[in-house]
Amino acid sequence: MLKSFIALGHRVDFRHACRRDLTGILAIVRALYEERGRANNRPPKEITDETRKFWVELLSKPIDQRHSVVLVAEVDFHIVGYIGIGLPPGKPLESGEVSVFMVSVTQAWRSKGIGRTLLEQGIEQAKTILKPRTIFLQATVANEHAIRIYEDAGFEQLGGVLRDAGMWNGQPADRVNMIKELF
Ligand SMILES: CC(C)(COP(=O)(O)OP(=O)(O)OC[C@H]1O[C@@H](n2cnc3c(N)ncnc32)[C@H](O)[C@@H]1OP(=O)(O)O)[C@@H](O)C(=O)NCCC(=O)NCCS
Repeated sequence: MLKSFIALGHRVDFRHACRRDLTGILAIVRALYEERGRANNRPPKEITDETRKFWVELLSKPIDQRHSVVLVAEVDFHIVGYIGIGLPPGKPLESGEVSVFMVSVTQAWRSKGIGRTLLEQGIEQAKTILKPRTIFLQATVANEHAIRIYEDAGFEQLGGVLRDAGMWNGQPADRVNMIKELF
């Protein structure tokens, strides 16, 4: 166990993900697709075979051979959030670069400090296991809660705003690259 705290009268545990967390993590991925589908007034995206394969392969490896850090937040044996930090596509471990590829908390458990804690603990674990010099991520400017936890964790905007580089509530949305230097 990496950390625990009480929220809504329940204990929230933070730990490395294991193979049996596959269903819980994919349920959060699916819930986010549904949430975004509702916001965009479109049918939700489906989880592709490629996405499922990615998670099966990643979670089947021992923690020290994943080249990624995947942490989950668990309440009463249910996964309520996860974070993935790993090598950007095509980058070797020696590059010293990793990126936050997703952080997500189920709607009912948002705004309780879980996202912030996943990010803090994910960075600490990445420092120990992956030993990167820099951590990157890309964020949608309109995603204020995400930007807030990234800035509080020490991420700074890198370069200018990427106009209409993503979608937010069905509209083209600006994104920014963010970076945290570790050494
Ligand atoms: C971004 C996300 C992971 C944040 O997780 P979270 O558990 O809600 O975050 P925290 O509770 O740690 O809160 C982060 C900050 O945003 C604020 N916040 C979060 N949700 C809020 C809400 N619904 N209303 C108002 N403020 C909110 C919190 O108050 C907190 O700030 P504070 O600690 O200064 O008060 C979560 O909103 C999420 O899963 N969003 C969908 C997926 C996503 O967009 N991921 C990021 C991009 S890939």
